[in-house]
Amino acid sequence: MSDPILKRVAIRKYTDEKVRQDEIEQLLQAFQAAPCGMHETDVMQVTVVEDEQLLGKIEQLTDNACYGAPLLFVINVKKDSHFGERDASVAAENIMVEAANLNLGSVYLMMAASTLNTAPDLQAELGITSEFSTAVIVAVGHAAETPSEDRTNRYRVIRK
Ligand SMILES: Cc1cc2nc3c(=O)[nH]c(=O)nc-3n(C[C@H](O)[C@H](O)[C@H](O)COP(=O)(O)O)c2cc1C
Repeated sequence: MSDPILKRVAIRKYTDEKVRQDEIEQLLQAFQAAPCGMHETDVMQVTVVEDEQLLGKIEQLTDNACYGAPLLFVINVKKDSHFGERDASVAAENIMVEAANLNLGSVYLMMAASTLNTAPDLQAELGITSEFSTAVIVAVGHAAETPSEDRTNRYRVIRK
């Protein structure tokens, strides 16, 4: 399958192989290309985590909710923003689709994001200031599983 939108699937098992720097740059370009409400670009930011010590701290805090992925995009939004959570969701999808395009696995993580918001000290280590909260974490890495759910007819479609 070549269409990256159709190829994207939630991956929850990763190999130890690291994501290359040029691939991280491409994933960041996909993040930068995401739409945002009212063109309020200051509402959203991302922390890219590759540092093994920090990855370990996040896994420990979240009870391994990031599945040992070697790369995390921690997407943060201003606490008082109208569109922040939606901006973060579409930006997460951009990253995940680009990951599929690069033959990388990914998964959208809301639970881990919520848990990170209970640890302001770790957020500070990640460069997240108190005016921001973490909306989504996107885990990325080389897939160590091949999910095979039939997704051709998953949601109800109403056509008129
Ligand atoms: C809003 C949202 C929250 C999610 N939170 C989690 C999560 O905390 N942990 C997780 O493993 N997957 C999470 N997922 C991934 C979904 O479980 C997954 O997308 C869904 O089962 C459909 O499978 P697919 O992505 O392979 O199509 C989340 C997805 C969305 C859109």
